[in-house]
Amino acid sequence: MARIVFADEGKQAKADLGVSLRKIMNECGIRMRFACGDGRCGICLVRIARGMEFLNEPSDREKMILELLKSEPDKRLACQCIVEGDGEIVVSTQH
Ligand code: FES
Repeated sequence: MARIVFADEGKQAKADLGVSLRKIMNECGIRMRFACGDGRCGICLVRIARGMEFLNEPSDREKMILELLKSEPDKRLACQCIVEGDGEIVVSTQH
């Protein structure tokens, strides 16, 4: 089980492995816009301040979008993040 910290909102959640960050955000009431939901639009960009190693590797499509957005290495698309390791993941939605 991972612990997800939403630094900007002051909220925390525990998440089972295999759960998407999007689902966790919805359950926590984190307000973020999701448009396509499958890693094409880039609207759900977040900063993973800590715990990137506890998330899945970005797909080729996510990498392409992150590159188009000229995002830093600590950014991910929330709709594409899956919790894959037990640890603390700190997310910033106000990057
Ligand atoms: S909602 Fe479009 S990339 Fe996440």
